[in-house]
Amino acid sequence: MIKNVVVLLLGMVAFVGAQVPGIIYQPKPSRYYVHVANGLSTLPLTVHCQSKDDDLGIHHLPNRGDDFQWNFKVNFWGTTLFWCRLERPDAYVTFETFWPESKNTWLRDRCRNGTQGTCLWIAKDDGIYLFNFPANNDELIHKWIF
Ligand SMILES: *[C@@H]1O[C@H](CO)[C@@H](O)[C@H](O)[C@H]1NC(C)=O
Repeated sequence: MIKNVVVLLLGMVAFVGAQVPGIIYQPKPSRYYVHVANGLSTLPLTVHCQSKDDDLGIHHLPNRGDDFQWNFKVNFWGTTLFWCRLERPDAYVTFETFWPESKNTWLRDRCRNGTQGTCLWIAKDDGIYLFNFPANNDELIHKWIF
């Protein structure tokens, strides 16, 4: 009798684990590191990021390879949202760099550097790329507005 209950419970845990892999196999990082890097071939980049509560200021990234980064603890409700305006001398674009996800794991999947939560945005000549850590490549997500 007890044995059957134990077997049933183990079965339920395995079932839930398989349905919601994020819970058991891929714990959500509690802290995220977000980078915005200048990957432009020649132009300088200006980055201005903010959330509802924080203005991270205006940062000049004059050279290719320069990087602005910040990190934060994801709040209990998972409502943390950051957006950035990127400017180069001839174009700009504004986009969300970190946002809450509940069912969707699009961002979380890409920002998974081992156990560390790291979102790596790279401004290139043709647009803004997000590095996909598990796939080890970057993907064009946003085009510049000229
Ligand atoms: C990814 O994780 C590795 C190992 O923890 C670390 O050395 C590296 O700096 C991380 N990459 C970024 C961009 O944070």
